[in-house]
Amino acid sequence: MGSLFEAEVGVEAFAPGRVNLIGDHTDYTGGLVLPMAIGLGTTVAMRTDPGSRTVRLRSRDETGEASAEVGPGAGRPAGPARDEPSFQRYVEAGVRAARPPAGGAGWISTSLPIGAGLSSSSALTVAVAVALGLPTRAEGDVLDSARRCHEAEQIASGVPGGIMDQLISLAGVAGHALLVDCTTLALRPVPIPEAAQVAVAHCGEPRRLSDSAYARRRAECDAAREVVGPLALADARSVEAIADPVLRRRARHVVSENARVRATAAALAEGDLVTAGKLMSESHASLAGDFEVSTPALDSLVAILDAMPGVFGARLTGAGFGGCAVALAARGAFDPGSVDFQCWLVDAGEGAWRRVADGRRQFGSRTS
Ligand code: GLA
Repeated sequence: MGSLFEAEVGVEAFAPGRVNLIGDHTDYTGGLVLPMAIGLGTTVAMRTDPGSRTVRLRSRDETGEASAEVGPGAGRPAGPARDEPSFQRYVEAGVRAARPPAGGAGWISTSLPIGAGLSSSSALTVAVAVALGLPTRAEGDVLDSARRCHEAEQIASGVPGGIMDQLISLAGVAGHALLVDCTTLALRPVPIPEAAQVAVAHCGEPRRLSDSAYARRRAECDAAREVVGPLALADARSVEAIADPVLRRRARHVVSENARVRATAAALAEGDLVTAGKLMSESHASLAGDFEVSTPALDSLVAILDAMPGVFGARLTGAGFGGCAVALAARGAFDPGSVDFQCWLVDAGEGAWRRVADGRRQFGSRTS
């Protein structure tokens, strides 16, 4: 077992990771997504200091200290811009989103696998921002909080991501996935049937080239929009008329995925796990074929999951290019101990929260 270290904390904030049940590469075209917040997530425990102009955070899992300035230009790195430690840019994003009046110092710890497609980076951005006072769902306008985290993370990371990850980390509802219309940001909680179990499995491959390939897919969707108008409003017929075969396939994925998200939300609301699972498997085929964001390792993991007794359907989840797949199974049917890949059974949890935690707190250390 690891050793323990103590930190003096005044506030503790938790932000969950997420698994997206269906609707990938649709958020940045104003389409539909159906993610749920999960129990795995990131905690920031810190003490704010009214006399300080800098937020300084260390991680339980990695050496180094991230720091960012508060005040005008909040979120700029304290000192020259840098990439180290790897969590620096997300601390910058959290500070930029929260715009706190003062700095402080503390610790980050996470139960999420890093860079696996479960939104570890947005969980960190949101946890830092909430620790610094950004309103949670219980406290204020959660859409505004999500927009701020989204914009700040785009700036800090340089990746033109959509809003899904920050939004679900803040707005998650226990026992529910959230149907999100990414044009209006209308949210509809969709209950996860009691008979269902959501499982997340890692394909063993880290996400490769994901940032540059992601930006390229987004640019292709923008180019398709130039031809047929907003993809969220386009229909299958107009998409088939796109002359460029690559843009046609990208747009076909987005349009068909939006329809699948709508149908999956309806199926789950009716407790129809067979239909929901079938739609998830169709989503994977579309992400692999038309959108080309799968990998051989993800394809074979999805095929293994699909063939398991009690599994209704499976697909890659998140950006793709490696990382995780999600499976919809009958509760009790799926035993993570019996498979030879990393796997988690996850329940739909609440969005981010903060509590005052005066005094000292002990943290387990993974590394020593
Ligand atoms: C990443 C992005 C999200 C979304 C997914 C793909 O997780 O951060 O905004 O675009 O990829 O659905």
